[in-house]
Amino acid sequence: MIKKIGVLTSGGDAPGMNACIRAVVRTAIYHDLAVVGIRRGYAGLIEGDMMEMDVSSVSNIIQRGGTILKTARSEEFKTPEGRARATKNLHQWGVDGLVTIGGDGTYRGANCLSKEWDIAVVGVPGTIDNDICGTDFTIGYDTAINVALDAVDRIRDTAASHERIFFIEVMGRDAGCIALDVGVAGGAEVILLPEILTDVDKMCNTLTSGLARGKSSSIVIVAEGDETGGAYAIAEKVKEKTGLDYRVTILGHIQRGGSPTVRDRVLASKLGAAAAEALRDGASDIMAGEVSGKVEFTQLESIWTGRKEVDMNLWRLAEMLAI
Ligand code: F6P
Repeated sequence: MIKKIGVLTSGGDAPGMNACIRAVVRTAIYHDLAVVGIRRGYAGLIEGDMMEMDVSSVSNIIQRGGTILKTARSEEFKTPEGRARATKNLHQWGVDGLVTIGGDGTYRGANCLSKEWDIAVVGVPGTIDNDICGTDFTIGYDTAINVALDAVDRIRDTAASHERIFFIEVMGRDAGCIALDVGVAGGAEVILLPEILTDVDKMCNTLTSGLARGKSSSIVIVAEGDETGGAYAIAEKVKEKTGLDYRVTILGHIQRGGSPTVRDRVLASKLGAAAAEALRDGASDIMAGEVSGKVEFTQLESIWTGRKEVDMNLWRLAEMLAI
């Protein structure tokens, strides 16, 4: 029976991770489980950077971006030796179950730990990229797209005043979710996604014909993982073909910061609580996600073997509305 659980955040931080930590800690304590917080993800676990947590350890954090537990990407945890060191610390602290909040790299590590050392693990999807199967949305995504959209709206003001084309690069690693939603919501003329091969000539035609019809500005949203090589590269290529002047904005890490939205806080609270309860009930090797408004659990392995599909209907809609 599980008596003490550990909680860590790993990979890129995402707004809402704190709300999730709070939910894990308070749910566990509500069910009479003790909780240990692990700082700096798996790197901290290997080094024994851990602390006992109580209800007040997570006071006044639900509204804060980032993660109070800090985060890191650990190369050492990818090795059996690293995981052995991590397990020694878990044993020393009496931790018999672990909630890992992060992206798919986080689950691979958790899965190895569970297989090699019989530590119960439950994952929670925390990443702005929304690239995790088994959940409609990841924690942090809603905040990130709203931050990015706010930036696009601001850029549109200056783009229209100068009658310019802007190429705006958004994050997402090799997934186009952020680009697609922000592009549609921002009324982008063109959206470039890693999931869809870019037709450069078609894109040039969309931009030149829009300007010929009297458009005062054009916005191209470029997913950072698009095969064209990023906003600067594609902007130069378009200039070579059309002679159109351009400006580029890379939104970068601004998309990862800020106070989480209502949706992210609610999602984080639901999934954090579900993960703690799943551990208490003896589950392991699963991730708590939300599908069609309901909490659902997915086997960890199927998360990184599958790929979240891009919404092609939404992409076609964006093309139709950009005429
Ligand atoms: O996975 C989240 C994310 O922000 C990606 O969108 C981006 O590609 C990456 O992390 C950036 O990582 P880092 O913060 O290590 O530069």
